[in-house]
Amino acid sequence: MAGKVKVTTLVENTAGTEGTRAEHGLAFWIEWDGQHVLFDTGQSDLLAHNARQLGVDLSQADAIILSHGHYDHTGGLATAIGAAPKAIIYAHTDVAQARYARNRDGTSRSIGMTADAQTSMERAARIARTDGPTEVLDGLWVTGSIPRQSDYEDTGGPFFVDESCTVPDLLPDDQAAFFDTTDGTAVLLGCAHSGVVNTLEHIRTLAPGRKIHTVMGGMHLVAASDERMDRTVERLARLDVLRLGPAHCTGKAAVARLAYALPGRCFPVVIGTAVEFERP
Ligand SMILES: [Fe+2]
Ligand SMILES: [Fe+2]
Repeated sequence: MAGKVKVTTLVENTAGTEGTRAEHGLAFWIEWDGQHVLFDTGQSDLLAHNARQLGVDLSQADAIILSHGHYDHTGGLATAIGAAPKAIIYAHTDVAQARYARNRDGTSRSIGMTADAQTSMERAARIARTDGPTEVLDGLWVTGSIPRQSDYEDTGGPFFVDESCTVPDLLPDDQAAFFDTTDGTAVLLGCAHSGVVNTLEHIRTLAPGRKIHTVMGGMHLVAASDERMDRTVERLARLDVLRLGPAHCTGKAAVARLAYALPGRCFPVVIGTAVEFERP
């Protein structure tokens, strides 16, 4: 069904609109033919502050998508559900898995969903489990788990499911959102812990025959090897993605490299960045 879609960045690592504040995290607000979806929640109640500053009414959320269980995407969940108690949460079964990152000195820190976020999720009106591809609204999809096919991509960090950092966290809950536009498929990424190439290849199988036109969100290339960067850039160029909005955890060096390698195709995504799409 034809219509307009608008995606507004509510939380990101950089504040781009006066009165908003930044934090390490991500949240997008999707306006979809009179319906509204929150994609990730940032890491705190900053979500509500930025929403107010940007004229977004969180109480209108019909659905809340969690791209994965990291604190910087789920920490604002209590705030989001508080504002929109009837919103359906779309998240993978493993979203609340305990998770840790190893620090440089060998210690670890918890980076999973906070107890507060987990409690509010349990109180939500309904949780739709997105272990496989799931339609959130008519034409708005999440991928569910993403097959890891490339041999040069990994989750992007020293992530583990145990505090002593012995069992790697493969982030099976990592997912992206996508929808069709008149120009091709548009993709929203959380952190792309499955790998941005794996994510886009999977979406190509879910939306066959459609070119990927726009990709925006976290690409977690902050610690990517030269080989991974080279091959990622090469694949993005071959896929002919026309608009690339690397944000959040992509990493400054990776953003610079993408902008250099794909001239005229990259655009900045900061708090307040809004992108409009036309549905076919
Ligand atoms: Fe992140
Ligand atoms: Fe993450």
